[in-house]
Amino acid sequence: MCGIVAAVAERNIVPLLIDGLRRLEYRGYDSAGIAFIDEANQLQRIRSAGKVQALADRIDSERPGHLGLAHTRWATHGGPTEHNAHPHTASERLALVHNGIIENEQAIRKQLIEHGATFTSETDTEAIVHLIDHLLAQGQSMLDCLVEVQQQLQGSYAIAVLDQQHPDTIWGLRKGSPLVVGVGVGEHFLASDAAALVPLTQQMMYLQEGDIVAIRRDQAALYDQQGKPIERTIQRSNLDPESSERGHYRHFMLKEIHEQPAVISATLDGCLNGTRILPSLPAELLSQVRAIHILACGTSYHAGLTAKYWIESLAGIPVSVEVASEFRNRRPAVPEHTLMLAISQSGETADTLAALELASELNYLATIGLCNVPESALTRACDHALMTRAGLEVGVASTKAFTTQLTVLLLFTAALAQAQDKPKSRIAEVLDALGQVAQQTREVLALEDQIEALAYRLADKQHALFLGRGAEYPIALEGALKLKEVSYIHAEGYAAGELKHGPLALVDESLPVVVTASSNELLKKLESNLREVQARGGQLIVFADRAVTLDSNDDMHVMHLPLNHSIASPIVQVVPLQLLAYHVGVIRGTDVDQPRNLAKSVTVE
Ligand code: AGP
Repeated sequence: MCGIVAAVAERNIVPLLIDGLRRLEYRGYDSAGIAFIDEANQLQRIRSAGKVQALADRIDSERPGHLGLAHTRWATHGGPTEHNAHPHTASERLALVHNGIIENEQAIRKQLIEHGATFTSETDTEAIVHLIDHLLAQGQSMLDCLVEVQQQLQGSYAIAVLDQQHPDTIWGLRKGSPLVVGVGVGEHFLASDAAALVPLTQQMMYLQEGDIVAIRRDQAALYDQQGKPIERTIQRSNLDPESSERGHYRHFMLKEIHEQPAVISATLDGCLNGTRILPSLPAELLSQVRAIHILACGTSYHAGLTAKYWIESLAGIPVSVEVASEFRNRRPAVPEHTLMLAISQSGETADTLAALELASELNYLATIGLCNVPESALTRACDHALMTRAGLEVGVASTKAFTTQLTVLLLFTAALAQAQDKPKSRIAEVLDALGQVAQQTREVLALEDQIEALAYRLADKQHALFLGRGAEYPIALEGALKLKEVSYIHAEGYAAGELKHGPLALVDESLPVVVTASSNELLKKLESNLREVQARGGQLIVFADRAVTLDSNDDMHVMHLPLNHSIASPIVQVVPLQLLAYHVGVIRGTDVDQPRNLAKSVTVE
């Protein structure tokens, strides 16, 4: 969703801000804008609906600036128009950008209008800049204003604001939405996401809830929500500056699909310390667990569903998995010794964070967050954090985040089984299976040309059905989600055993049915489901492991994957479904990296 980048430097910051916005494009947005103080100490503001390039085209490269802020906006209050784009201004001296939502905006707007403010947009953001303007006019310092703003505003927000009358400082404030300070040599930056800053500096200070910051060329001064000076440690970001580059790949989604063998290996390395599995989790905690609640959204929810199969069969602990948007709005019953596991690639998803907030009022044994972004709101809110090492995921459609989540979840299953005194041989089996996943994934990726050829069978369809059984049922759900996100084809994922209970009515010769088949104890049952589809003329595409003895015929295309069945098979089985969705999207000419209407991090309810 929205993105913020701001800079104070001796060099011209305008191209830096535009480059920063480009690195934030992946979050999803519909307009962009920039404000800076030029060399004549004039406040310049340029905004544009549409892409960052449209904004860049309007900027006069002859007019440099040394202090400024910029924004990509994903419309919530008011349409995606130029006049709603950020930065918003007041009294021709303040310019402000904002991520998040102000819940009491109407009341504040009304009061400020009564005091003479003139609003020019439908955004909630404009209320913030007029509120600061109003407080400054009463003689308060900017620091005092930001302390007061926190008391008056309800909702979640990160803001950056500049004052043309103090052209050496940009102020930032974090309350509910992330904000990070980039520390350079004689220059400082602010951003909603470290990815915007990594080419400029790797030294980051992550603001915490209520923190206020003043960045100047030579320093970043931090204050708590009462305005008292505080310190935050500087951490080195391990984000690869090239992770926000596409390299030789046509799309980020394709690049990220191909990165999977490397990031799965990196994730495994990060989670094992000699014989210790997930050393950051205390064994005494895991030994007390009697039930687990998993909360997540979208792809992360599918990872949680897969984990339920693994945890219940290996560790014998009951697991319930629920979408966070439902959980947050009900009163869940929590049995004693229940662990809450929240899964989120970004660590910013509003529904998952709200579920965690609710968890703090309930009787959980502990909360664990599984996340891909260090220092995210999710990792800070949980008692324990488990990290995937997928690196920056730019494509809106999650791919490498999913397979690395599954990798950690299977390790988590092994750690639980170990702590619950389950047979050592089963744990060794899991570790052995995981050790082969990266290579198997590499071999599946080598089949890309054949999968691309299969994509043509789906490209002109309106609907598709994905089927799986056991731990591959969530993989069918994920395959269907990928296809709908990037190709806009309506796709449903079903447990193959449910076919007869409804979806069979959809099957005719126009319906492609995509199936993952593993040589496990459920294969015979799955084969019966395939026959049910064939009997109704459905067009089957089956991705089978090497021991499945199915052959292609007129209405069934079987692609054998270089994969031996193991508990880790679902991690590899999803890869051909990702490639299939990607190539269908490309054939149909969609924007696969930034599908319409979607944002990478869903930071609003
Ligand atoms: C996946 O392809 C999605 N775009 C989406 O479903 C995503 O998984 C969901 O919004 C949750 O995001 P999170 O993992 O960052 O919390």
